[in-house]
Amino acid sequence: MATTNLFFSLTIIVLILSLSVSAADWNILLNQRKTRYGLQITLKNYCESWRMNVELHNIRDFDIVPEECVEYIGKYMTSTQYKVDSERTIDECTVYLSTSCGFKKDGSDAWIFDIDDTLLSTVPYYKKNGFGGKKSNSTALEEWMRQGKAPALEPSLRLFNQLKGLGVKIILVSSRKECLRSATVDNLVNAGYHGWTSLTLRGADDENKDVEKFKADVRKQLISGGYRIWGILGDQWSSIEGLPSAKRTFKLPNPLYYVA
Ligand SMILES: *[C@@H]1O[C@H](CO)[C@@H](O)[C@H](O)[C@H]1NC(C)=O
Repeated sequence: MATTNLFFSLTIIVLILSLSVSAADWNILLNQRKTRYGLQITLKNYCESWRMNVELHNIRDFDIVPEECVEYIGKYMTSTQYKVDSERTIDECTVYLSTSCGFKKDGSDAWIFDIDDTLLSTVPYYKKNGFGGKKSNSTALEEWMRQGKAPALEPSLRLFNQLKGLGVKIILVSSRKECLRSATVDNLVNAGYHGWTSLTLRGADDENKDVEKFKADVRKQLISGGYRIWGILGDQWSSIEGLPSAKRTFKLPNPLYYVA
């Protein structure tokens, strides 16, 4: 009797497992799946490919990190690899500065920085809030921003200071709301950022606009004011796409969220 019961229980467990496997398209036991073209891959292969295609801007407008990749993305964002990738971005900015920028030093050379996950890291927030696997909660995120405890991205801070040393005007443009201005300024200063020329946040009028349009409009004004925008550093495509652009743009990695 006991053996029969055990057999039935096992059958049911296997049945449930195979159902959930087909739902998620994953072989949980082997931690493997096949791609559309029959390639046998691991979950790590799958999630690395997801991350790469986010950075390539092939995957757009995602609301949340796919459930099966949350752990992978969490690991990446707290890894040495993320730091190395960010450092490489800044190294390429430095190469550009020393080889291709003929600064006039007349007070009109400028560089634009994004804030979140460019100058300041929101990783501590996402660490406590499911690493992009949960639908974003702007109330909770803004409460966290108000505390002003976001740490600096060290490579970005080095670039910021290098540009300042070269006499380039530093322009900060962020989709943070205007009501977060004083918290943002305090946070930037506490994280080591000093001496920027202007900080543009999203006023009530701008909140109806896409972030890409808002940021492009800011650039339009800067250019008509006589600024030469040599570069933009951001972590979102909406920070660097749209017209007018800059002579060059640089994108830091960010697979946690997508801002359109
Ligand atoms: C969003 O965050 C706020 C503040 O932490 C919380 O009160 C609210 O319940 C959250 N909303 C959702 C949908 O989780």
